Amino acid sequence: MSESREPYVLGTGDDELARLGLQHRIWSDIAHEGWRRAGFGEGMRILDVGCGPGYASEDLAAIVGPSGEIVAVDESENFIRALESRRLPNVRAVLADVQEYEPSPDSFDGAYARWVLCFLGDPGRAVMRVSASLKSGGMFVVQDYFNYRALSVFPRPRVQAEVISAVERAWRERGGDPDFALRLPAMMKENGLEIVSIRPILRLASFGDELWSWPLTFFSNFLPVLVNNGYLGRQVADEYLGAMQEASRSERGFFSTPPVYEIIGRRR
Ligand SMILES: C[S@@+](CC[C@H](N)C(=O)[O-])C[C@H]1O[C@@H](n2cnc3c(N)ncnc32)[C@H](O)[C@@H]1O
Repeated sequence: MSESREPYVLGTGDDELARLGLQHRIWSDIAHEGWRRAGFGEGMRILDVGCGPGYASEDLAAIVGPSGEIVAVDESENFIRALESRRLPNVRAVLADVQEYEPSPDSFDGAYARWVLCFLGDPGRAVMRVSASLKSGGMFVVQDYFNYRALSVFPRPRVQAEVISAVERAWRERGGDPDFALRLPAMMKENGLEIVSIRPILRLASFGDELWSWPLTFFSNFLPVLVNNGYLGRQVADEYLGAMQEASRSERGFFSTPPVYEIIGRRR
């Protein structure tokens, strides 16, 4: 497994590691709601699919307690090393591509994937492998994007459409799909999972909300990458970031997240 393949469009360096930490803090209540809905609890074995540096894995480890286990899988050496360095006794970190990783069949009570399947060239293969690893009745909780271009800022930046389409282009050229979530229910059904619930999540940031830091860190990290790779001009990137910063400081400003769909499937 080499870091140089780097299919994950946002990269796996230390900036992204820090951004994922902030992102988890901002979205952790929503993760916990999904886990509660799926009945994740003490003593369970849970698979964290595409765990990143393992911020969700760590919360899951507290839920399952010392008698449970989290197996956290990611293909980034940097992220897996960061997770291992925290020495969590009931978390096993695994460096692997989730499209190929094959845990023992019928060995997990639950699985979680947040913003991972939307980056994969073959998400169906990952869903098949996760499903096979679940015990009958085991729950797969997914939180992922649909209709990414609905991401909005008010006042609307002049270059909004141009920037979002550059983000989407870069993402799709790496094999991902920013509108992935709507494909998932069918994928789950084809792989032995019945749909338990589908919940759309939209969040709004207004003046003073911590949620503003989510788009601000995302675009400050990612727009330079888009510029360096020729997806976007530097001036357009600067204009967009400036407009976003101004909106975040204005009492009139709003930010609306792209829709995140929480989809829970149960292994038959
Ligand atoms: C947006 S991050 C989400 C991380 C974590 N699920 C979270 O919510 O904090 C996407 C993660 O997917 C991982 N990833 C992308 N493609 C992968 C693959 N084929 N196999 C394993 N991990 C992958 C990346 O390395 C990155 O850690």
